[in-house]
Amino acid sequence: MIARISETYEGAIAGELFGAREIARAIERLAGEIVRDYRRMPLTLVGVLKGALFVTADLARAIAAIPDGPSELSIDYLCVSSYGNASRSSGEVRLLKDATEPIAARNVLIVEDIIDNGLTLEYLRALLGERNPASLRSCVLFDKPFRRLVQVPVEYVGLQVPDEFVVGYGLDYQELFRNLPYLAQLQPEVFTNG
Ligand code: PRP
Repeated sequence: MIARISETYEGAIAGELFGAREIARAIERLAGEIVRDYRRMPLTLVGVLKGALFVTADLARAIAAIPDGPSELSIDYLCVSSYGNASRSSGEVRLLKDATEPIAARNVLIVEDIIDNGLTLEYLRALLGERNPASLRSCVLFDKPFRRLVQVPVEYVGLQVPDEFVVGYGLDYQELFRNLPYLAQLQPEVFTNG
């Protein structure tokens, strides 16, 4: 797919929305808010694969870098899919892999890369809420507020992104571009040729 529009992976990128340093600063800010709220309390981060692979890892380490934070921190992942391979959400959420650790009586923080129509987070809050956690909150790095179908609480919000298809820092187009360390728009030809 990439070869048809460009000789290089980077040639498919139209522009950078947030650079790696800006993303790191946003994660440090989120970590500060989380440390303030969970000081000396146990905390479980539940990252939502695949998109939240990097934000969960970076957030967990940013929390560890701040003194006097949670008394203990564990990390779990689950995997859902809502988009299939299309560039817009289908609205259907499927649980592809569940978390592995019990969360009853735990303070749980769902970590998401992006919220768009809100259906994924609504589904996850209902799913994990049924398991009787001591508390349940959400942290989302990129907020796309323009096409929300459901109002779902997000206690920790990183950066607002425009109403455009974006890739990088965990977000993909047809499973590519997740490994870019920045958030970017794609050249329009990628969609017509892909
Ligand atoms: C993306 C993203 C969120 C969800 C948000 O995941 O990682 O989980 O969509 O969209 P929504 O608010 O419109 O429901 P996707 O289903 O694309 O899977 P992926 O993380 O594996 O790329």
